[in-house]
Amino acid sequence: MTTQELKSFAAPENGRLTPDMIQSFASDGVIVLQDFVSVEACQRLREQALSLVAAFDANSVRSIFSAMEQTQLGDSYFEESGDKIRFFFEQDAFDEAGELRQPKEDSLNKMGHAMHDLDPVFDTFSRTPQLAAIVDSLGYEDPVILQSMYIFKPPRIGGEVYCHQDSTFLYTEPESCVGFWFALEDATIENGCMHFIPGGHQGPLKRIQYRGSDGNMKFKTLDDTPWPEKSTVPAEVKAGSVVIFNGRAPHLSGANLSNKSRHAYTLHVIEKNSHYPAENWLQRSADLPLRGFE
Ligand code: FE2
Repeated sequence: MTTQELKSFAAPENGRLTPDMIQSFASDGVIVLQDFVSVEACQRLREQALSLVAAFDANSVRSIFSAMEQTQLGDSYFEESGDKIRFFFEQDAFDEAGELRQPKEDSLNKMGHAMHDLDPVFDTFSRTPQLAAIVDSLGYEDPVILQSMYIFKPPRIGGEVYCHQDSTFLYTEPESCVGFWFALEDATIENGCMHFIPGGHQGPLKRIQYRGSDGNMKFKTLDDTPWPEKSTVPAEVKAGSVVIFNGRAPHLSGANLSNKSRHAYTLHVIEKNSHYPAENWLQRSADLPLRGFE
């Protein structure tokens, strides 16, 4: 482990990461840029998310996302969501009678996985010159945005997420996944912020998820040593910050036990020219090809 706290920087003026930032990212696998997005842009995205939720008929589908397992295995509503905008409930969203315990917008785990290509407000938020410059300064030659997720982490029922690496689920050969996690509201330990193991990305990728020949999703274990979870560092960040993390960076988040939501938006970028396995869960139809930042 290289450090005990996450390196946090003021967002660079022209968007490009400075050598200091690139060095921290290389050694820790994660950095924070403060004030990367304006308060107004965060607010605009929240409003758009809530308007999409308002238009979603909660009685039409009740797909629950198991935050502990990261993917909704065997659920076609989830598995076909790679090129759509779909809604996934928290595990504790419903009471014994099958009714929502809280308002719809405070019952969802997430919305995914192609808002950045299907919704104009999300498209604008996702494709800024500043973000394109960061991706370019990370050395990407032909980056494309593989997925977007809107994470609600609702008050009281926002579920815990176990320690994992995103490249397990968004695997390419060679590995090229990088995550951008935008805080739309202040993220604190109390409301379930992310935690990282700085330097943990220098270890191996531990698991790869793939679709087996029987159609079911499976995991291939590459390394079964346990995570040094005592080394986790909380990423408490203000709204407008972006957390940038390597696809191998181990991370988790706690439950939201507070009375406030913890909305966040995430993008995952891969190198277009890397091999994208047909066994990955996230697949797109040919009429919605992956796009970069243009
Ligand atoms: Fe993750």
